[in-house]
Amino acid sequence: MADPHPFQQVERADRTDRNLGSRQLAAMLPDPAGARPAYRHLARAISALILDGRIGLHVRLPAERELATALNTSRATITAVYDLLRESGHAHSRQGSGTWTSLPEGQAPSGITRLLGPQDTAIDLARAAPGLPEQILVEALAQVTPRLAEHTHTPGYHPYGLPELRAAVAERFTRRGLATVPEQILVTAGAQHALTLVLGLLCRAGDRVMVENPSYPNALEAMRRAQLRTLSVPVTDTGWDVEIIESTFRQAVPQLAYLIPDFHNPTGCLMPDEERVRILHAARRSGAWLVIDETLADLALDVPAPPPFASRATPGGTGQVITIGSMSKTHWGGLRMGWLRAPARLVTELAGQRVATDMGGSVLDQLLALSLLARAGDLLPPRLEQLRRQRAALAAALTEHMPQWTWQLPPGGLSLWADLGAPVASALAERALDYGVRIEGGAYFATDPGIFEQRLRIPYTTSPDTLREAVHRMATALTDDISPSSTTRRAHWVV
Ligand SMILES: Cc1ncc(COP(=O)(O)O)c(C=O)c1O
Repeated sequence: MADPHPFQQVERADRTDRNLGSRQLAAMLPDPAGARPAYRHLARAISALILDGRIGLHVRLPAERELATALNTSRATITAVYDLLRESGHAHSRQGSGTWTSLPEGQAPSGITRLLGPQDTAIDLARAAPGLPEQILVEALAQVTPRLAEHTHTPGYHPYGLPELRAAVAERFTRRGLATVPEQILVTAGAQHALTLVLGLLCRAGDRVMVENPSYPNALEAMRRAQLRTLSVPVTDTGWDVEIIESTFRQAVPQLAYLIPDFHNPTGCLMPDEERVRILHAARRSGAWLVIDETLADLALDVPAPPPFASRATPGGTGQVITIGSMSKTHWGGLRMGWLRAPARLVTELAGQRVATDMGGSVLDQLLALSLLARAGDLLPPRLEQLRRQRAALAAALTEHMPQWTWQLPPGGLSLWADLGAPVASALAERALDYGVRIEGGAYFATDPGIFEQRLRIPYTTSPDTLREAVHRMATALTDDISPSSTTRRAHWVV
């Protein structure tokens, strides 16, 4: 029977559940009949799932007999799989209580490995994160020191954020076309922190949330950890399908929708104004919260910077929009400085929530942010110019070395979403490492496994020379035989 809903509902494995079911695990594993020796391949597949977080830590694996049945293999094979997992440190047994997942000594979950980036000399195209010019930081720090001295006479706890920074962020929203008062601003340790606070306050395990597919992987990860059910709506090279978004609001009635309408990560798409208005109406009719991630909004390369999404709402309609912002892309991720804008009452509730984790941000960091925001007019134009140069260098290198690839030049943001014409992205990413390039295949941005294998996100956050060299190296890597079958192997087997 055809799916009655026009949206794709992705029911994720419940990763925080303490017991992993045999059928649930079997669905994530390759067919053991296809590989020799089967037990070794199964063990590697399970350890890969543990490291990339699809199987949680401190989770009980299914009983051997049950998993053997689910995989249609022998009990002896599963015994050998669990022995190997114990040997490698990916599992341990508790007397009389089964086999539990664990993190091997000296290894880190892949979410951390990805954030840390290459520990070698590889070119890093995996992270779309620009650095901050040293001089700007030095000057801002010099300004901050006397201000910090004034604050040392206070207790220094600011769960809402430093009052002067809240005022500056509110003023910035007002200047961009959305009248805002400081009480509507909560200062956070980056956009990711803001999103996690919102999910923690507004969602309960099992709630439905609408997300774009593809989307920002760490946002998806936050939703998985909160045990939310994601309803994915597509973002293609031509942007959003508002009809699907509208019918998802209507039929699935999600608790909230998380959208990146400004230079969407990873596609770079910019949502047209009339689509914003339709989405605001649809969300309002369904009673869903709209969480709008504007982390990339200032990085407008070919178009004017878009006004805040919430500014398109009718006067009574802004109350359901929560806007998330950050200095990570306009300034530097190392600042860990972001904010959210929401109705004042919600901001108070969210501040209550954050006290349980960090009590408030560092005063020093917030003063630094304040000083940098005051000089955003000096910093941003050269940054945008640099990004344009880098984007042009990347596009030229792709045209020269990868004539078979297609892509659209994004009007802003930090990366280009290339279509490789064949599902080889994971295999290419793996091979590129041997050539000193670290990059993420499209599957990393997908709401569920096995899609966007023909896509590669290529950030233009490094110098033109580095980008040219990286593309050249990937072209060389491609001349190796990369086939879709090797892709599947990597997605499932690589530890
Ligand atoms: C769309 C989007 N949201 C949020 C973040 C995380 O931002 P922050 O470093 O402020 O937590 C990123 C970083 O890449 C991003 O691309």
